[in-house]
Amino acid sequence: MQVLSPPEQINFAHNKQLLNRYRFIEYESLRILAAWLPAAANMDWKLDMGRLLWEDAQHVQYLYQRLREIQTPAFRPPGDDALEHLMAEAVHAPTEADLLAGLFRVIKPALAATYRWHCEQTFANPDAPTLYAFKHILLDEESQLTWAEEALADHAPGEWEAYIADLLAAAGGVSGREDRQKTPAPPTCRTHFEWPRDAARDSRFSLVNRDAGQRVKSVDHATQRLRDFESYSQEMLAAETVALIIHLSPGMPWAFTYDSARHCYDETRHCKLGIEWLAHHGHDYTDVPQNTLIYTWRSQYDAATQYCLLTMGNETHAFPHRHEQMAAYAENGDRLSAQFVSYDMADERQHVAFGHKWLPQLMAQHDIDRPVDEFVKETVALWEQEYMTGALPIHELSEVSDQ
Ligand SMILES: [Fe+2]
Ligand SMILES: [Fe+2]
Repeated sequence: MQVLSPPEQINFAHNKQLLNRYRFIEYESLRILAAWLPAAANMDWKLDMGRLLWEDAQHVQYLYQRLREIQTPAFRPPGDDALEHLMAEAVHAPTEADLLAGLFRVIKPALAATYRWHCEQTFANPDAPTLYAFKHILLDEESQLTWAEEALADHAPGEWEAYIADLLAAAGGVSGREDRQKTPAPPTCRTHFEWPRDAARDSRFSLVNRDAGQRVKSVDHATQRLRDFESYSQEMLAAETVALIIHLSPGMPWAFTYDSARHCYDETRHCKLGIEWLAHHGHDYTDVPQNTLIYTWRSQYDAATQYCLLTMGNETHAFPHRHEQMAAYAENGDRLSAQFVSYDMADERQHVAFGHKWLPQLMAQHDIDRPVDEFVKETVALWEQEYMTGALPIHELSEVSDQ
């Protein structure tokens, strides 16, 4: 009998170790994108960052589902200081272009190459569930790399990208198997990341507080419809708040981050839906002033309050108006508006459900030990008083200026 010598280099223990590394990189990449979403100014990139971070959440989920079959607990640190250092450093990029270049021109190409190598080297039949995960993850990774090639075509590789490449080399590459290089010193361009108190917009937009929360009364249907879709085109503000909540809540269970990545992505889709509707009707969404004060106002509160303001305030209370509008669209045979709003409402029902599901744990994470019902009631009252009136007071800033 001929004994075949299989090419597989990856045994069971090594497989676990590698999967932990990939899971860690995907998860940190999601968190870094969330941290930067409000800070990035380029609206085209922001719209894509929602999708990119949700795709990374899908990858973590695939890897988590496999890891929980082969180890307990399923979520483990990679046990490699150099790899942890790489992902801890990657957030401190000097600019949004550098950040994306570090992630999508250095780390992600190496990750995709390692997934391909792993496919060749694991035991094909015994480890088939891992191969299935890689096959699907790679579809996204390859399209992410193509996205970055196009998005960053004008961004020449610089010091930051070289630093990230050196940090990756110090970790022995994604697999940790390559010869480890010396840990590089940080370049002078490294900029310590601090979460953004304000939401950035590129120079195409004007910023204004236009009656946040106040329903425009007694206007004709066409004007109301235009206002509604202009408002959709500003839903980046909701995506930015959810992204900030993800960033501020690293101790929450994975399932929360997974749901919130979807929540964040949905809001970028709602923003796009507004953009597309306006374009269909001959309007340029960049002419709509962006009320970024809404993000600044929400971000002065702890993450649980922000989440409650959004899910129990805005999202819970949006339905009566949406239903009214839907009835008018049906009456007027306005198929496009009706379709867009139907999908939006399906998402929003999920977001309200996320709010009910996660608020108790998020409150605990942020040291709020009041009864949930009482907290929700008070926070909705705060929302009515500060958001629905359009006042959006910034308490911290007024305290500072009072001194
Ligand atoms: Fe939305
Ligand atoms: Fe929502």
